[in-house]
Amino acid sequence: STEELEGRVRAAKEALGSKLFIPGHHYQKDEIIQFADATGDSLQLAQLCEKNEEAEHIVFCGVHFMAETADILTTKNQTVYLPDMRAGCSMADMADIYQTERAWEKLTAIFGETILPLTYVNSTAAIKSFVGENGGATVTSSNAEEMVRWAFEQKERILFLPDQHLGRNTAYNLGVGLDEMAVWNPITDELEYDGPVGKVKVLLWKGHCSVHENFTVKNIEDIRSNHPEMKVLVHPECSREVVALSDLNGSTSYIIKVIENAEPGTAWAIGTEMNLVNRLIQDHPDKHIVSLNPHMCPCLTMNRIDLPHLVWCLETIADGEKHNVISVDDKTAEFAKLALDRMLELS
Ligand code: 13P
Ligand code: SF4
Repeated sequence: STEELEGRVRAAKEALGSKLFIPGHHYQKDEIIQFADATGDSLQLAQLCEKNEEAEHIVFCGVHFMAETADILTTKNQTVYLPDMRAGCSMADMADIYQTERAWEKLTAIFGETILPLTYVNSTAAIKSFVGENGGATVTSSNAEEMVRWAFEQKERILFLPDQHLGRNTAYNLGVGLDEMAVWNPITDELEYDGPVGKVKVLLWKGHCSVHENFTVKNIEDIRSNHPEMKVLVHPECSREVVALSDLNGSTSYIIKVIENAEPGTAWAIGTEMNLVNRLIQDHPDKHIVSLNPHMCPCLTMNRIDLPHLVWCLETIADGEKHNVISVDDKTAEFAKLALDRMLELS
């Protein structure tokens, strides 16, 4: 039963004490969040893992790329675990290192040494490492503007991996025209762009989040006509058209902050992952909150981390076993850390 599983998590947590740290991303299920030692967005969780030098065991309740980041930012004596190895990220899967190396070769042949690579943290350690080795940095949804501004201080152009939407939304906010952005298609190995290449300032990798693509212009139009009093608040992984029509956009922690600071009685349609929207609905009964897409939008991979997997993971650790360890090799970690450090220093 759920109670029995919850009791086992409590017992394992007690047995491991301060040797254990459980970070939980805002998209995790409530049954997991209740046991998290800290919750946060991608940036906050990375910062917390870096600061925590005490915990020997970090059980990351989030997805694979976040656990890799935690491993890169912690010391050799600390072990990072992912309770279910199938908790990946479809966006991170849209860019692999071979595609990236091929793209770099072709793009530098066109643009020479004028490009700085940036990667959203939602990417593999190998891509973070590639970016770090080539002078670039990682970004998260809460510091993307700052990082893109930084990148343009170094080079004339940026290559933004792997989320075209966060890249486009961020560059647009900084004044880059949509006609100055080209899309790199990693499947055809071609640049999708109509104008003269000299005009291109931003090269967007053709990847996206399969959760946030479910929030559409039609969803916003429906809200505007049926609930004109509602404010629309979305994550910048949504498309440019959706972000343009929304009232506010930002990272998961920004979304939470906006709702916490909103006046009682206000109404909100939120475009982000289902578990977070449901938690906001539960935590704010004085506000009228709905999902921007009425069908709700779960991240299937985030949801793979559930109570049975957490119990198993904690009990094996308490028994002195090591399963589901996320370990990035030293060479990859060295340059990936460089890319992460460049971001963390500026955040
Ligand atoms: P943030 O928590 O940084 O906003 O990231 C959202 C996300 O999609 C994580 O996978
Ligand atoms: Fe990846 Fe989107 Fe799920 Fe975040 S919400 S883990 S970007 S698929």
